[in-house]
Amino acid sequence: MSQMEKLAPPRHIAIIMDGNGRWAKKRGLPRTAGHKAGAESFRRIANYCRTLGVEYLTVYAFSTENWRRSEEEVGGIMKLLAAYLKEALRDMYKNNVCFRFFGDLSRLSPELQKLCRQAEEESAGLSEVQVNFCLNYGGRDEIVRAARAYAADVAAGKYSAEDLSEGLFACYLDSAGVPDPELVIRPSGELRTSNFLPWQTVYSEFVYMNVLWPDFGPEDLDSAIEEYHRRNRRFGGV
Ligand code: FPP
Repeated sequence: MSQMEKLAPPRHIAIIMDGNGRWAKKRGLPRTAGHKAGAESFRRIANYCRTLGVEYLTVYAFSTENWRRSEEEVGGIMKLLAAYLKEALRDMYKNNVCFRFFGDLSRLSPELQKLCRQAEEESAGLSEVQVNFCLNYGGRDEIVRAARAYAADVAAGKYSAEDLSEGLFACYLDSAGVPDPELVIRPSGELRTSNFLPWQTVYSEFVYMNVLWPDFGPEDLDSAIEEYHRRNRRFGGV
């Protein structure tokens, strides 16, 4: 399909960047080499989303469960993230990308926390595409943190328990103010959702693909968007 014939992309696409380890194993490389290739793939897809006019791109970069991996692998992913954020801070105005972070950042190194805060603050006015990085993110953890924050506001007298609605609760989530993703993509052949945005994806279309994340290219995003358009989205109506 030519660029002109392409269907409008969804406003918000969320991706589980999976398959880095298997990509590396197939090549006899260490897992960290797979994550490095995965970070390259992310750069390519983020740029492509910008050219397509996607408004929000949310990516699962590190889950609350990923701490169980070896120190070397966790350290490798953290290093890639720090390097990417430094680069993003340098090229921010050229790229016109705004950053948000979903997840409990308090467990990250002070350096990475600082980079996240800086990226969020300095990019706040930029608008072409918003990238939401899920870092030390777990969907259940996000809901528990939101419930605690609401309970604290109830204890402080700001609200009563009866005031709570779906809309108000959503304001306490990491994704406050961000529309729900219309499309969730999981490459690598796995068919789970793995604690990724459980609140936000109840009406999302899920597209599972048999390609490892480091091999995922613009043509794969095109075919996921085509699949999304083939689905009949009724939101529980007829
Ligand atoms: C899952 O693949 C991937 C991760 C746990 C890490 C994702 C991180 C990156 C792509 C790099 C982050 C940096 C930037 C700049 C985005 P897996 O390791 O579980 O793969 P496997 O299922 O084949 O083992």
